Amino acid sequence: MAGHPDGLRRIKIAPSLLSADFARIAQTIATLETAGADYLHLDVMDGRFVPNITWGPKIIADLRPLTRLPFDTHLMIVEPERYVGDFARAGADIITVHWEATVHAQRLLNQIKEMGIRAGLSLNPATPLCVLEDILSDVDVLLIMSVNPGFGGQKYIPGSTRKIAAARRLLDERGSGAELEVDGGVHLDNLREVVEAGAQTIVMGAGIFAGGEPALALERARAVCSR
Ligand code: DX5
Ligand code: ZN
Repeated sequence: MAGHPDGLRRIKIAPSLLSADFARIAQTIATLETAGADYLHLDVMDGRFVPNITWGPKIIADLRPLTRLPFDTHLMIVEPERYVGDFARAGADIITVHWEATVHAQRLLNQIKEMGIRAGLSLNPATPLCVLEDILSDVDVLLIMSVNPGFGGQKYIPGSTRKIAAARRLLDERGSGAELEVDGGVHLDNLREVVEAGAQTIVMGAGIFAGGEPALALERARAVCSR
């Protein structure tokens, strides 16, 4: 990636199962693993923090034996501190909570890490990066939302690119090793822009599944990242 100091860093693609057909999920997960997905992104929604409901720890525990891919578990739920233990036991490798959903983010991030799990913090589009000022050193994964969370297939909010670039600068300036992940509305046509802004891990839902050929979409995404 021209002009970026970490340009040669390998980009990770995290397909979001929110857009997959759950009646055929075992086959889909096998396809994604063979095709070289880096993580499986699992969107947990409670109908309160976001206006949609998906699945809880039982489903994630059932999926766990199907794959060795890391489970990137994105909790879009209120009071996530009540449930992180359940998601850890279900087999999550990363647990990401929303800054907006918890009062004691610093305590929660450390609670997650004490369970031996990588701790992610996500910011909604309306939440500025300055909230990270005093907790950045507690964050293993910084998840920038490029849509308002709740649904797959939404349009990428254009200002997100500037925010991703600012987050990249912040992490570099602070010497943070946190992984910068971006979630929402990323497709083949804007993937390059997101990567050039400094994102390391890209969540893709509709971008992987909408065309009905997830392996092909993943291969194309990889090609865009390594161009
Ligand atoms: C949105 C979820 C996303 C979603 C992304 O609330 O957090 O992970 O599945 O889907 P696309 O890529 O379709 O925007
Ligand atoms: Zn997500």
